[in-house]
Amino acid sequence: MSFDLVFFGGTGDLTWRKLMPALFQAWRHGKLPAGGRILAVARDERSDAEYRDFIKDRFVEVESAKRPSDEEFGRFAQLLHYRRMDLSLPEHYAGLKDWIETRGADTVVLFLATSPHLFPQIVEQLGTVGLNGPNVRVVLEKPLGHDLASAQEINRVVRASFREDQALRIDHYLGKAAVQNLMALRFGNALFEPLWRRESIANIQITIAESIGVGTRGDFYDRTGALRDMVQNHALQLLTMIAMEPPSRNDADAIRDEKLKVLRSLRPFTEESVARDVVRGQYRGGNCAGNPAVGYLEEVKVPAGSQTETFVALRTEVQNWRWAGVPFYLRTGKRLAARDAQIVVNFRPTPHSIFPGLNQPNKLVIKLQPEDGLELHLLAAKGSGSSDSLAPVFLDLDFDKAFAENRVGGYERLLLDAIAGKLNLFVRSDEQEQAWRWVEPILNAWKNDTTGPRPYAAGTWGPAAASALVARDGFAWAEEQ
Ligand code: BG6
Repeated sequence: MSFDLVFFGGTGDLTWRKLMPALFQAWRHGKLPAGGRILAVARDERSDAEYRDFIKDRFVEVESAKRPSDEEFGRFAQLLHYRRMDLSLPEHYAGLKDWIETRGADTVVLFLATSPHLFPQIVEQLGTVGLNGPNVRVVLEKPLGHDLASAQEINRVVRASFREDQALRIDHYLGKAAVQNLMALRFGNALFEPLWRRESIANIQITIAESIGVGTRGDFYDRTGALRDMVQNHALQLLTMIAMEPPSRNDADAIRDEKLKVLRSLRPFTEESVARDVVRGQYRGGNCAGNPAVGYLEEVKVPAGSQTETFVALRTEVQNWRWAGVPFYLRTGKRLAARDAQIVVNFRPTPHSIFPGLNQPNKLVIKLQPEDGLELHLLAAKGSGSSDSLAPVFLDLDFDKAFAENRVGGYERLLLDAIAGKLNLFVRSDEQEQAWRWVEPILNAWKNDTTGPRPYAAGTWGPAAASALVARDGFAWAEEQ
């Protein structure tokens, strides 16, 4: 199957930092279909050779095992092409169309890796010039809007030129292997399904912790904040995968229908419940992994006195028969104690313990990163000393070890799926809009609340109020248990 993959924003961060390394891996593993061309478009004038050198130089930033040798890069680079494009000029789109149509590839994937404010303009021009035929798919990278109205506006423009199944909204968390495993765990095995409900589960905690700060993205981040950057998309997508009903088929719409139902079942926030159930924080200076770290307000391009949150913890519920009353805690932040993304399913304790003092509930930990694995925490007899000496142990499944062959990274999987037209892992417009609808009351409540985010020291697990949020229900975050 021949394909043309076009990156708008071809010299931008996302392209060289994530997309090119992912494509290189796909190519190295022989997963990229033969007969492909990759075209980067951007504003400045460069030849193909200059663009290839530009990408090659950027590979030094990639972890060493994933860097190409000169010889490998030379072969991979044959796929790379470059075109100058001024995105405001219709004739440049016509030129792009000619470039694509001269060859007539089976599939054309147009990946918008530009700043999102350019999406409407690009999508309109693509429609006008006729680059929206049935073999064309357009991939939209987050952030898609900054609130419900702006997301709806982008979707309106996209819909005017492309069918829903031609518009692929990326949430790179859905590309992570652990998310595939979550589907496999829940719907490929019968073991957990009878337990996957309010009768057996006490609470669920979704944590996406980062140890990095905002780096050089201070201006973008300051307009965005953790709620828009991580909760509206990544954390909520993980929540839908945990809470959804079994889909009837393994196909994109069957899955996305079920995810949408979860989003619609989330308890809506009011100004009062935001004050009670949502904690926002902002990091101050501290120590992260042994290195001193400056506070958010000292980061480059962050405006003085900014009230943007770099941390959010919240409590919600999925209001349906399966989950009524079970708290779902979501937590994400920058400059936290560790890079650690995991979902912890805390089961209820035994109804009656014959082992006094050791009624430790079971928990299932779904680890997304840094490792990709599963832990099932149990109590077991130590076998030493008196007959009732029990100890916590856990079954530890490391998927990277279990599946030794080259495992595919998030962007790699999503790019391959975009080329193949598999939509399971892309977010549908109604899901995306529903996520904004749910998040928006939080944004509005914060606008009216001048107390601002709570400070926390870099290298910690966020403000103490986040622990109190969970403690109020008689629970604790995983690292405090
Ligand atoms: C992006 C956010 O969507 O996800 C970043 O914009 C964040 O702020 C990143 O750092 C985290 O992704 P990952 O895959 O490194 O956990």
